[in-house]
Amino acid sequence: MSKGKFVTAEETGFQRECMERVRAMTQGGTAFVDTYGCQQNEADSERMRGMLSEMGYTITDSNRSDVVVINTCAIREHAEQRVLGNIGYLTHTKRENPNQIIIVAGCMAGEKHIREQIKKSYRQVDALLDTTTFWRLPETILNILEGRNGEIRAESEPDSRIAEGMPVLRQFKHKAQVSIMYGCNNFCSYCIVPYVRGRERSRRSTDIIEEVRELVADGCKDIQLLGQNVNSYGLDSAEEMDFADLLGELGKLEGDFLLRFMTSHPKDCTKKLLDTMASSPRIARHLHLPVQCGSDRILQAMNRRYTVAKYLSLIDYAREKMPDIVLTSDIIVGFPGETEEDFRGTLELIKKVEFDSLFTFIFSPRVGTPAASMPDPATKEEKSERFERLVNLQNEISARKHREYIGKKFRALIDGESRGGEMNLTARTNGGRLINFAGDKSLIGSFADMEITGATTWSLYGKLIK
Ligand code: 5AD
Ligand code: SF4
Repeated sequence: MSKGKFVTAEETGFQRECMERVRAMTQGGTAFVDTYGCQQNEADSERMRGMLSEMGYTITDSNRSDVVVINTCAIREHAEQRVLGNIGYLTHTKRENPNQIIIVAGCMAGEKHIREQIKKSYRQVDALLDTTTFWRLPETILNILEGRNGEIRAESEPDSRIAEGMPVLRQFKHKAQVSIMYGCNNFCSYCIVPYVRGRERSRRSTDIIEEVRELVADGCKDIQLLGQNVNSYGLDSAEEMDFADLLGELGKLEGDFLLRFMTSHPKDCTKKLLDTMASSPRIARHLHLPVQCGSDRILQAMNRRYTVAKYLSLIDYAREKMPDIVLTSDIIVGFPGETEEDFRGTLELIKKVEFDSLFTFIFSPRVGTPAASMPDPATKEEKSERFERLVNLQNEISARKHREYIGKKFRALIDGESRGGEMNLTARTNGGRLINFAGDKSLIGSFADMEITGATTWSLYGKLIK
């Protein structure tokens, strides 16, 4: 039976009650939320840290903490293997501290075969909470502390819902991620996400606008709107607001800030959205538009529902409206049945578009997805060889594009410390390009005018303009 789209106030009230009861039981405890995977997981982890903090736990980054939540990623096999290795390691920490609570959350906790594997072979794990049930973390921890079974089965939550008003502990003051919708309806044939994150559900625009308004009032400068496919925002609601409308509304808020968003699906990316971006100085000139491959035959097998020609026409329109737009994309190499000719189509597309940068992946079969059982004659060596050709081509393009930045001036947000060396700080251009430069730490969180003085394949070097 459908329970409606939103978790009721009564249910979130119960979680708050659980938080208070845990707080009374665990004075001085520590908690660690270890995050794998995408920005959506990062955002979910900030929510879990918020709840844990309300429960009285001090947040640490040690897997010796009293509570360890592993927020997992299922997108490729490599990610899963890493997570399983780390869960395995927790047998030692639990031996040292038998009262340690270990919870596996995130996308892997939504996969039936992984749940069974964890229950059978990873006995140190106390509970599994998938991405649609993690709002019940307080109840889960209370159950475990009181000696009951902590597990809340994903199957008990057939219609995934949105829980508003739960606490959040944000990592940064000057940049934040705001989920505007959850789940995905697209069922690209290689992708596990629709199975583990459930159907698309959009937050109310009023809740999103309020959250962004509060962030801006609190000094936040860089706000990234998140969704598996932001372009289908609102399609599941009675509201007459689509993603372009929402972005337009947010762009009208008072304050000095930039809005970013990801991810856009090319089949739903509209001219209206690109026009909205072009018309608001608050919307970053960056479009992450995953194309996945440059062969119509493979795009069809991937169930992507656009053609190379349609994709290229979107790119043309975006550049016509915003000549300085930064374009990035995702590519999968070695999808089942990809021939050398299909792959050359991908290289051609990349040469035509000249993306600023790419995220490149080798196809990884995911249990339960259609692509996992498609005939896949190409060898591992052929796929690696294609992957290398792709990366080499993109590196040349990225390096050339970055060199073109040298001598130019940008307003950039100083957003963090770099990993050492003289260039101790990082900043982002409006389009999201990374600048390394030397400056005082107190500048973090402010906009500054910068001149680009050097470039590599992956980033830029710059200096502050006095
Ligand atoms: N194998 C390889 N890459 C994948 N992606 C999603 N599923 C798979 C898979 N099974 C990539 C897509 C997507 C990005 C987030 O991860 O390129 O856009
Ligand atoms: Fe996966 Fe496709 Fe949904 Fe993206 S749009 S999350 S690739 S199914």
